[in-house]
Amino acid sequence: MPKVEIHGQSSLAYRERGDGPPVVLVHGFPFSSALWEPQLVGLSDRFRVIAPDLRGFGESDLADGPYGMDVHADDLAALLDALGLERVVLGGLSMGGYVAFEFVRRHRDRLRGLILADTRAEPDTAEGRANRRRMARTALEEGTDPVIEPMVPKLLSPETREARPEVEERLLEIMRSARPEAIAAALEGMAGRADSRDLLPRIEVPTLVIGGADDAITPAADLRAMAEAIPDVRLELLAGAGHVSNLEAPERFNAAVRDFLDEVR
Ligand code: MLT
Repeated sequence: MPKVEIHGQSSLAYRERGDGPPVVLVHGFPFSSALWEPQLVGLSDRFRVIAPDLRGFGESDLADGPYGMDVHADDLAALLDALGLERVVLGGLSMGGYVAFEFVRRHRDRLRGLILADTRAEPDTAEGRANRRRMARTALEEGTDPVIEPMVPKLLSPETREARPEVEERLLEIMRSARPEAIAAALEGMAGRADSRDLLPRIEVPTLVIGGADDAITPAADLRAMAEAIPDVRLELLAGAGHVSNLEAPERFNAAVRDFLDEVR
């Protein structure tokens, strides 16, 4: 995988495929750029699809935590600099969406459009934060399995789990490759993320809100409410898909993204 040096100190790995208008896709927790395989394949006939490994994940260097969303957003801006890209469509799934909100705050002039997939603008509750910190300690003390295993039933829809066991296998494979230090640093970072609800009406670029209609983590009603707060938006809810809608319904996800990218061009 290609790598770029960022901030003169560590390197960030990324996958890239295709030519055309650039779209940068940011993975969720605790995944890697491997999450976007169906989009790297399915959209690269007409678009330049770039999927970074966030710091600590995939083949990117492990850096000291916590991995705040601001840190990831600045890493992405450094990646765009290194690739000579002025403005892009930025997409993020779940934690990738939290990163995208911070990118809007810090680097809005570099955006052509935004894709918010299975994500939310709300910060964690106090209980959610405490739980993340407990899980971060567990990852460091006991390894990543006790963090990862309980997540699986919530990540995928019942339909995906029943009909397409290979999706669960692949997701587990990606999650098991995550290092405990990265999991802990990302959990701490997500616990400290900002409330982005005020930002929604101030998003100035065309935005696609997309997600699984059966998402148990960021439910369809929440995706709809988020979309209603964004001025220039389209909403796509994918029937039968859960929280990892890009893997669970890749053809319909790609069709919606393709329509959106054509509009933004
Ligand atoms: C993700 O998929 O990135 C996580 O579900 C985000 C979270 O834990 O809030």
